[in-house]
Amino acid sequence: MSGQRVLLIVGGGVAAYKALELVRLLRKAGVAVRPILTRAGAQFVTPLSLEALCEDKVYQDLFALTDDSGMGHIELSRSADLVVVAPATADLMAKAAAGLADDLASTTLLATDKPVLMAPAMNLRMWLHAATQANLATLKARGVLFVGPDEGAMACGEFGPGRLAEPPVIFEAFMAALAGPAARPLLGKRALVTAGPTVEPIDPVRLLTNRSSGKQGYAIAEALARLGADVTLVSGPTGLAAPPAVKRVQVETADQMLAACQAALPADVAVLTAAVADWKPAQTEGLKLKKGQTGAPTLQLVETPDILATLSKAGAQRPRLVVGFAAETNDLEANARAKLARKGCDWIIANDVSQAGVMGGDENTVNLITHEGAESWPMASKAEVARRLAERIVQALV
Ligand SMILES: Cc1cc2nc3c(=O)[nH]c(=O)nc-3n(C[C@H](O)[C@H](O)[C@H](O)COP(=O)(O)O)c2cc1C
Repeated sequence: MSGQRVLLIVGGGVAAYKALELVRLLRKAGVAVRPILTRAGAQFVTPLSLEALCEDKVYQDLFALTDDSGMGHIELSRSADLVVVAPATADLMAKAAAGLADDLASTTLLATDKPVLMAPAMNLRMWLHAATQANLATLKARGVLFVGPDEGAMACGEFGPGRLAEPPVIFEAFMAALAGPAARPLLGKRALVTAGPTVEPIDPVRLLTNRSSGKQGYAIAEALARLGADVTLVSGPTGLAAPPAVKRVQVETADQMLAACQAALPADVAVLTAAVADWKPAQTEGLKLKKGQTGAPTLQLVETPDILATLSKAGAQRPRLVVGFAAETNDLEANARAKLARKGCDWIIANDVSQAGVMGGDENTVNLITHEGAESWPMASKAEVARRLAERIVQALV
């Protein structure tokens, strides 16, 4: 990254303080950072802090007489390899989408011929407002790159999507953006990934679930997003943070997971790693079951929907490539091959969960079973397995 130049536009949101951390990461990597601070941005961070961390002058005024030339906005817009807007406020996004140019930041955004990466941050209602979503779609269609926003607790006390992506995540998106389209062969492709366990309620406090950590699925979602895919991650409950630039939909039950998967179609590829419960209680009690005189209750179970089989037979909506996962403790290849035929998917990744530490651990030993043959991959980190699978997906789709 050393020698790269970024023009950083800091908008007027509470998350502006995180832009300072981003500057620190960029400077540490040897990136030259030239800052533009909007009027509203200066209400949240001081020009002095930004200047000290960037080791460059802070640009604030479109009509500054003291700047080197009267055409400062044109020069600024060309002086970088990439323009990063963090935080990108609703206002900055609206101005950029409408082509307004009434201050230094918006004029520079209109004048630039460099790639632009926006990291939005705002209250969830501002983010979900139809106007902001329409601006997002317009900007995306014009090639503006986005990272975040994350979902979580906000400064205003509400909870939902709209938090600025964490600075290391913005930094990673910055590096990916600089690497250009060659490093993002899945640009324009849509991927659906499921991960984690499902939980099936017995009563309001008890549930049926399993030991899946979701780590492998999250790593796959991240690897596909890094290659440019537009990824929806449908996740059961896990303790994991949503990977950068991935749209996460959180669900609990198998029925909810199927509905979320169907809502995410069409997709070019579906990678279904979630450990979906095979059975659920035939009925969920509205009140907590009491330990009582009648002894232990008998649980009546019924089958949950088969998400892998359903998506594999989704007709016109069927993803071009459907990849299932099979956790096996014995007869790995034979069982996986039978599953491949039974479900109607294209590939099965069979992992041997008989060894301690695979479920919840950071490493995995997998076999790729296709209609053409089988490959044994050596034990590797879940991130490495994800990278390898993502590369195979590129070969299959591109
Ligand atoms: C305390 C406070 C916090 C704000 N936080 C945000 C925010 O997080 N995101 C946002 O889009 N606007 C936020 N706003 C509103 C913006 O500051 C306002 O729309 C401003 O015009 C944006 O200017 P800009 O285009 O320079 O970013 C906030 C306003 C106040 C008073």
